[in-house]
Amino acid sequence: MSSTIKGKIQQLRDTIRYHDRKYYVENNPEITDYEYDQLLKELQRLEKLHPELITPDSPTQRVGGEPITQFPTIEHRVPMLSIDNTYSDDELREFDQRIKRMTEIETHQDIEYVVELKIDGVAVTLSYENGLFVRGATRGDGFKGDDVSANLRTIRQIPLRLELSDKQYKIPPVIEIRGEIYLPNKEFQRLNDEREEEGEPQFANPRNAAAGSLKLLDSRITARRRLRLFAYAIGYFEGIEPKTHIQCLELIRRFGLPVNPHARFCNNIEEVIHYCNEWGNRREELDYMVDGMVIKVNSLCLHDQLGVTSKAPRWVISFKFQPEQAVTKIEEIVVQVGKTGTLTPVANLTPVLLAGTTVSRATLHNFDEIRRKDIREGDHVVLQKAGEIIPQVVSVLKEKRKGNEIPFTEPISCPECKGKAVRDDEEVYLRCHNPFCQAQVKRRIQYFAGRDAMDIEGLGPALVEQLVDKGFVKDYADVYYLRYEDLVTLERMGEKSSQNLIHAIEESKHRDLDRLICALGILNVGLHTAEVLAERFDTLDKLANATQEELEGIYEIGPVVAKSILGFFQNKHIQEIIEKLKASGVNTKKLATQKLVKNPKVAGKSFVITGTLQKYSRKEAETLIKSLGGRVLSSVSKKTDYLVAGEEPGSKLDNARELNVHVLDEEAFEKIIQIP
Ligand code: IVH
Repeated sequence: MSSTIKGKIQQLRDTIRYHDRKYYVENNPEITDYEYDQLLKELQRLEKLHPELITPDSPTQRVGGEPITQFPTIEHRVPMLSIDNTYSDDELREFDQRIKRMTEIETHQDIEYVVELKIDGVAVTLSYENGLFVRGATRGDGFKGDDVSANLRTIRQIPLRLELSDKQYKIPPVIEIRGEIYLPNKEFQRLNDEREEEGEPQFANPRNAAAGSLKLLDSRITARRRLRLFAYAIGYFEGIEPKTHIQCLELIRRFGLPVNPHARFCNNIEEVIHYCNEWGNRREELDYMVDGMVIKVNSLCLHDQLGVTSKAPRWVISFKFQPEQAVTKIEEIVVQVGKTGTLTPVANLTPVLLAGTTVSRATLHNFDEIRRKDIREGDHVVLQKAGEIIPQVVSVLKEKRKGNEIPFTEPISCPECKGKAVRDDEEVYLRCHNPFCQAQVKRRIQYFAGRDAMDIEGLGPALVEQLVDKGFVKDYADVYYLRYEDLVTLERMGEKSSQNLIHAIEESKHRDLDRLICALGILNVGLHTAEVLAERFDTLDKLANATQEELEGIYEIGPVVAKSILGFFQNKHIQEIIEKLKASGVNTKKLATQKLVKNPKVAGKSFVITGTLQKYSRKEAETLIKSLGGRVLSSVSKKTDYLVAGEEPGSKLDNARELNVHVLDEEAFEKIIQIP
């Protein structure tokens, strides 16, 4: 191999790292995305020709291979504690006084602080040894966290090797850098739009989305989520001697990690208070979420003197903002039909930016709520997000009324099928009782295909809409009779996506009984109740034949739920649908019927799974092993008892053979899990 290739590879890597830094850290790109991709492609090409030259810190090594089954646990060398909160200027002054008392600093003397934005994301620690990124973990319980290195490597703001632009500093042998992983608001919105389209549940806020993305077992998916980082502290370190927090931030920046540009040095607590309040009014300018400010004593010597309580260090405090609110106008109030026929009023709004997303709808919950708050079409209202995606109307700004606002009248019929709207005795809800109502049918199919239910990837709302409108499906059982020829005729369905959907539908036939019960959409039966029912009845038939007494005899199930289960299975139309489901081959039995029966061949043994199994999804195989008392690990070691190898096994199979670990194919695996 010629040394010029080596030089070329080295040069390409340096150039890519330079542009990574320009783009991701300094926010000042010098080349287009296209030019960047060309550089990366060229590097990939050369490395493919010379795999012996690949190093773990090469920019091509960010996205890993196979998914893992669980994250190893890592103990933090320095605990990742939390921060105490304050909510007012005076509480900040008390914090300043307390510090002076504890360190015997005179009251009139000033303490220096650094004030930073409190990024609303997920805390991580990044470990570098001799400049190389070796691992990264989540906060966990503060003492131990999950090793999410593979996912962190996909974030291009995180250098795989620390850089030093200034020779005056040297790379420490060991350093842990702490920071917050977050998802920019735009990315959050993009991700949720995509998920809505796919029929997957949406994330409630950017923080949940970031946490969810960081905890994915397949780093190839994380790589597509475009997570970002702000580094804000140094945890454990060796070989450097920072004296102040501001120096720590400077060091982190010089190593090539992004530090938030709004961190500010303050000479005293009054400057701190001023800066905190400034951001209380400015946070909408940012394209990421902040839920307050973090105030840190600048001198590290004072940190040592102050120490920590069991929960939080005494040298830091946060200043929390009030939840974000926004004012907008209700354009109209429409009525939506749910899967069980519930009619819910929803306000269509003049779009407004709130907590990171553009909001154009708000739920009004029920008709009593509209009456109580006297909400009218044309009203200006205050909106707030309460942990959900869809915001709520907090109050009506009655002083803004012009007199042309229209009070809302409760519907007397279903807006979709025009069937009678009936108010249930005990309930506050209006309901459409027509089981053939097209809106209900669509909602039921969407729910059936959803994550908690049969989890059919690719069967999202837009597709369900088309399938019902075109008459391809009349109920959810018809999904199992869809043909490839039908699917390719639909809008936005190519050959590949049609094939994938057929495959996903087929695969969903093997879901466990609890998922199926949940998918049926029985009134008052969500996933939890479905789990309880599956546990008690083993098969769908047994559940369908259960009496009111039997049902009520189950802890957690009261007369109302029992009645709706009974009513559901007595319905002739439903009985036909269930027959269709069975005829299509959908599993109607509890998969791990051996549950809690410890299988001596499995109990206490450790398993690793690789490749694709025909009869079980990864999750099912794992559940099965665990239910028989076995353990499932992510990587093969000498201590592994069995490697279950499906089709297209990865490098784990080689590892297992090398270590003399017993390898089971699917057939052998099935033999082992049977009761002896
Ligand atoms: S310092 C012991 N600085 O807030 C102090 N934390 O509620 C270490 N956070 O777990 C944390 N922005 O996830 C620090 N600029 C910032 C921060 C920040 C967000 C998070 C962090 C921490 C949580 C505490």
